[in-house]
This record gives sequence, structure tokens and C-alpha cells, in this order.
Amino acid sequence: MEKLFFEMPTIKRKDDALDYVNEFSLYNSHINGTGGLNRYTDDYEGWLEKLERDYIQEPDEERVPARTYFLVRESDNRIVGMINIRLVLNEKLSKYGGHIGYSIRPTERRKGYNKINLYLGLKVLDIYGVREAFLDADIDNPASWKTIEALGGKRVKEYFNDEYTHSVIVDYIIDVKESLKNNKQFEEYIAVKKIKR
Ligand SMILES: CC(C)(COP(=O)(O)OP(=O)(O)OC[C@H]1O[C@@H](n2cnc3c(N)ncnc32)[C@H](O)[C@@H]1OP(=O)(O)O)[C@@H](O)C(=O)NCCC(=O)NCCS
Repeated sequence: MEKLFFEMPTIKRKDDALDYVNEFSLYNSHINGTGGLNRYTDDYEGWLEKLERDYIQEPDEERVPARTYFLVRESDNRIVGMINIRLVLNEKLSKYGGHIGYSIRPTERRKGYNKINLYLGLKVLDIYGVREAFLDADIDNPASWKTIEALGGKRVKEYFNDEYTHSVIVDYIIDVKESLKNNKQFEEYIAVKKIKR
């Protein structure tokens, strides 16, 4: 498999980032993990400013501190995925949403990239001292819950979410350190050890 790395969004990636979001529209695909980029397609600079605010956000019931990264393939420098990592959960996110939201662009799916995306995301949570990651997935989204289970996610609850999705949601807990220890095989697919700026 190809090697991948996390990159912090900057102005240099404006065209690539918009191309990433457009692909989801073209394929009529659900999008996640963009830190709101899909709502800022006509204001990329404003989105970068929003990410700056996300970094230093004091947690409250509306917002929490978060990091958003591009998942980039080393061989052609293409953005293949995105991830939004919440470093602290408020009451709302502890019920629905959890620590991590992610996506892989439609033309790059089913290559194992999201497993690397989540593995790298868990490394970030580990750096920020999060021991237990809470993630959830719609039962009709096997690509998402299989990613979580591949990284050792344990099902803790299954329920009908009548507030946000009107579908069955599965809640997962991942022991961050244990998952990183048990999944070292993914290290060979990581291109750079530090997050690229
Ligand atoms: C969910 C998503 C990120 C998965 O990305 P991906 O790169 O295709 O996932 P991977 O290739 O790493 O596969 C992860 C697991 O899901 C399985 N999988 C992937 N696509 C699948 C599909 N369409 N149906 C069933 N299983 C699927 C893979 O086989 C793998 O399981 P395995 O380890 O048992 O083999 C991608 O489908 C996506 O962006 N969806 C839209 C956004 C979204 O739903 N995000 C999740 C909510 S936050």
C-alpha cells in the first residue's frame, strides 16, 4: 500500500482542498471530517481562520478544541482524506459525534486508507492525553464501523438516534494506547513521523 501522512491545512492547498470537497458533490457522497470546509467553499481563507480558532477553543456546549488534517498520499502529494479530531468532548459530543470524524474521497476508497487515517488520529489523541476515544457510526455505514473495529473499537451501545440521524447508531470505545500498540503494522504506511505544515 501507498504511504500517507497528515498535513495541516494552509493557503497552499486551497485548490486541492476545494477539489477534494467538489468530488463528494460529484459522487453525491456524504462528507465528514472536514472541520466545516464543505460550508466554506467560497471562503477558504475564512475556513483557515476558523481552524485557528478551533485550536484554542475553550470547550463549551457549542464548541470544543479540535484539529483538522488532510491525509496526503506521498507518491503524488494528493489529498486522499480528511479528519477532524476533537480533543475534549462536551455533553452533546459525548452522546453523538465523539472524538473523530473522517472521510476518504470517493475515488480513493477501499484501499485501506481510512484505517491509516484513524490510526494517525489516535496518535494525535494520545499526544493530547486522551486515553479512551469515543466514536460512533451509523449501522448502515459498514465502511465506518469496520474501520473502527479494525482499530480495536469495542461496541458499547446500539440505539435509534431520533435526534440527529433517525437511524441506528453504534457507539464504540477505543483504548487509545492499546490500539496503537496492537496496530503497529500500520507504521510502514506512514510517510513522515511529524505532522507536515
Ligand atoms: C467511511 C470511509 C471514510 C471509509 O474509507 P475507506 O478508505 O474506503 O475505508 P478502508 O478502505 O480503510 O476500509 C475500512 C474497512 O471498511 C470496509 N469497507 C470499506 N468500504 C466498504 C463498503 N462500502 N462496504 C462494506 N465495507 C467496506 C473495508 O473492507 C475495511 O474493513 P476490513 O478491515 O474488515 O477489510 C469512506 O467510505 C467515506 O469517506 N465515507 C463518507 C464519509 C463518512 O461516512 N464518514 C464516516 C462518518 S464520520
